[in-house]
Amino acid sequence: MPTTHAQDCDVLIQHGLDLDEGTPETWTALAADVLRGLTATHKHLPPKWFYDAYGSDLFDQICEQPEYYPTRAEAALLADQGAAIAAAFPAREFVELGSGSSTKTPLLLAPLLATGQLERYVPVDVSASAIAIAERSLGAAFPQLEIERRILDFTTQLPLLGRADEGGRLVALLGSTIGNLEPVEVQAFLTALRGQVGPGDAILLGTDLVKGEADLVAAYNDAAGITAEFNKNVLRVINRELDADFVVDAFEHESIWNADLERIETRLRAKGAQQARINALSLDVSFTDGEPIFTEISRKFRRETVAELYASAGFELTDWFEGDGVYGLGLARPV
Ligand code: AVJ
Repeated sequence: MPTTHAQDCDVLIQHGLDLDEGTPETWTALAADVLRGLTATHKHLPPKWFYDAYGSDLFDQICEQPEYYPTRAEAALLADQGAAIAAAFPAREFVELGSGSSTKTPLLLAPLLATGQLERYVPVDVSASAIAIAERSLGAAFPQLEIERRILDFTTQLPLLGRADEGGRLVALLGSTIGNLEPVEVQAFLTALRGQVGPGDAILLGTDLVKGEADLVAAYNDAAGITAEFNKNVLRVINRELDADFVVDAFEHESIWNADLERIETRLRAKGAQQARINALSLDVSFTDGEPIFTEISRKFRRETVAELYASAGFELTDWFEGDGVYGLGLARPV
């Protein structure tokens, strides 16, 4: 059961992908992703499979590494600009996608409540146990607040949210989670989101910003090696769940900055030619020396690229909050 995992970083997609409590659908999705990804010419695995209980724990540790600045930057920005965000959109209902255990949420809930408009908080996450933690701590801190939990995967089940037509709904995706998505996936997500909000509503996205290469690369290559351990964890998940025999330490962590695409690209590289057997798929996979498996992208944004993103899905960026060029929060309304 996830207890203190990625929620510290408010990363939601990943929550509840603790396969120990996972459903058969989760297992089938993993099997399909592994089959597709490891039989492709350029081998790839989606980042959501990092996050079993151990991987979620590693992610929490990443957030505490001195090199990994985004979590602290977002919390500082919310602490600093929360009141300004609430003034720009005094929400009646606050929907948080991938809320996890809602660790950072009070930084926004408190100023929203202070406007006198907020009636309801709607945490949306795949992990029921993470939401239960959130309900306990927020219920104690904000007894007058109505909390309406929604247990669903916002990347695939957003329409289940249901549209509210009264206006005053604020839907937030924090943690730069959107940076993990390829452009076509972002497009699909924002388009689905557009279907869940009406004219009187707004959305808020947290986005890590393009900055000097040294800082970016360091954030994904911490000296303690936690990110490397996290990256390799996808192989442990496959070994356990799909009865495979990857030698985890025969792969090397690599995170590099792609300046053209403005994203960190994370891979696992085979140290020497090797083979792995995945029994559940009756599949043998071979690797040449140095062959990569693409495991994650972390896109970095600029105010202009965020505005374009919004515009392409029928939103207009109306307010931009930024801390020292490090991190941005963009408030947008449907057009
Ligand atoms: C949670 C997706 C924002 O991409 O920066 C941290 C995940 N990966 N270190 C990111 C992550 C490696 C993180 N996000």
